[in-house]
Parts: sequence; structure tokens; C-alpha cells
Amino acid sequence: MEWKHLLFESAEGIATVTFNRPKALNALNAELLKEFSALLDRISEDASIRVLVLTGAGEKAFVAGADITELAKCNALQGKWFASQGQAAINKLQALDIPVIAAVNGYALGGGSEIALACDMIYASENAMFGLPEITLGLIPGFGGTQRLSRLVGINIAKEMIFTGKMISAAEAKEIGMVNKVVSPAELMNEVKKTAKTIAQKGRVALRAAKQVINAGLGVDLATGCRMEIDAFALCMASPDAKEGTTAFLEKRKAVFQAGLLD
Ligand code: CAA
Repeated sequence: MEWKHLLFESAEGIATVTFNRPKALNALNAELLKEFSALLDRISEDASIRVLVLTGAGEKAFVAGADITELAKCNALQGKWFASQGQAAINKLQALDIPVIAAVNGYALGGGSEIALACDMIYASENAMFGLPEITLGLIPGFGGTQRLSRLVGINIAKEMIFTGKMISAAEAKEIGMVNKVVSPAELMNEVKKTAKTIAQKGRVALRAAKQVINAGLGVDLATGCRMEIDAFALCMASPDAKEGTTAFLEKRKAVFQAGLLD
């Protein structure tokens, strides 16, 4: 299927989705969000995809936020619908079984930062800028930013970013723990693909279990989280991947994982 506002490619277990509205700095309009949600459904059904990478078209932006030309026309109910659509897509992204890496190649503002925050890792180019500037529009983040940013970097830093609307550089984002790695623009996709390739070679069942337990654990107390870990550990034990991984270690060879619930 051809996507109007997205580019999609998939090879060797690594799928890449590129937000593709470069003239509007890849801003998220309702049509793009609908396509993104539909593409995430496709990706979740494709057992050949082991890792997802998200990036932006052009050299300037990852995603410069929700489309302000659409926001400017919204009344309260339409604003509620828009935020709900955006959150539904971003929650779906976060809930994907496979690891997702944001390759932030420029501005990641508003909804752009909020998409990156729902990914499992953020790699950024040196020219990337992050921020939640909605306050300067008389708004607040509507795609989960008030919740995910404070969980990731702490309440005080999140409040400062959200109350001032100021942008921070990739280096600052790394310093506050928002970003995993900062590299030159030329190196960004290589670095992301290198990590994606390492992850893609691991077992799908264990990756899924690790992601689900880490994410779910954030919402519960430590004892409950640890109990969930025990169950997920047992589930991994029941998978052929665990048999292969442990046997390969004892046979002094590299494990070859293939088992997945959908394989
Ligand atoms: N929505 C719609 N169009 C946008 C856009 C956005 N979020 N961001 C940039 N564009 C458009 C500009 O209007 C401009 O279009 P024209 O060429 O037709 O005039 C084009 O992209 C290039 O942008 P600029 O000329 O502004 O480029 P610049 O280099 O001078 O500035 C920028 C870059 C700092 C990112 C600036 O464009 C900017 O501040 N953009 C808005 C960022 C923002 O406020 N994002 C939050 C949106 S609200 C949100 O996301 C709510 C939510 O949580 C759901």
C-alpha cells in the first residue's frame, strides 16, 4: 500500500517508517495520524519485523509537532478528538511487541517529542532539538507529553520544559536522560541500524517479555512488578528461544533465534 504522508521500508527484520511532510517539517495532521495508526497495525501483524525505526524526511525535522493549521481551527470537542486520535496512535506505538527506536534527525517538538517519548530508545543527531512548546500556543501537550516526559526525566525538569516551552539541544536532552545517544547527522541512521541489527538477532519472545514487563512495571509497585517479571521469565523459559539460547551457550556457538508467537 502507498502511504501519502509516510515512507515505509522493511529489510532483514528492521522496518523503517519515515514521517514524510518535509514542507511542513513533518507536522502531524489528522490524515498522517490515521495512516500511522493503520501502518502500526500492519507492522504488528508482520512477524518478519523484529525492530521498528522511526525518523523524519528531510534534514531539518523529525516531527515539528501537531499540525498547527489544523489545531487553529479546532473547538474544544474537535481538540478532544484530535488529542484522542493522537494518543490512540502513540499508545499503539508504545504497546508494539517489538522494540522501537526513534532516530531524531532534527526538530522533535510537541507531538514529535511525544512520539519519540513513546519509543523504547531515542538516538539523536547533533542538530536535533527537543521541546514541548505547546504553552506558547496557549495549549498543553496533548499526545501524552505531560505524562511520559515526567516519567522519563523527572517531574521538575518536565515542568520546566512544559512551563517555559523552551527547546533543548540533543546534548541537553542526553544530559537529562531523554536521549540514549547523540551522533553526527551523517552517522545517525548507521548507528540506529547497528543497534537495531543487534536487537533483531535476539529472540522475539524474550524481547517482548522484557518490553512488556519494563513498561507495565512503571505503573505498579516494586513487588508487583517483580512478580510480573517472574511470570514473564517463566513464559520465556517455555519458548524454544530459551532452549536454543542456553543450548548454544553450552555448545559454545552463537544462538540462532527464530521462534516467535507469530512465526
Ligand atoms: N504545524 C504546521 N506547520 C508547521 C509546523 C507545525 N507544527 N511546524 C512547522 N511548520 C511549517 C511552517 O509553517 C512553515 O511552513 P511555510 O513554509 O508554508 O510557511 C514550514 O513548516 C517551515 O517552518 P518555519 O519556516 O517555521 O521554519 P524555521 O526553521 O523558521 O522554524 C521551527 C522551525 C522552530 C520548528 C518552527 O517551524 C516552529 O516553531 N514550529 C512549530 C513547533 C510547535 O509549536 N510544535 C508544537 C505543535 S502543537 C502540538 O504538538 C500539540 C500536541 O501535543 C498534540
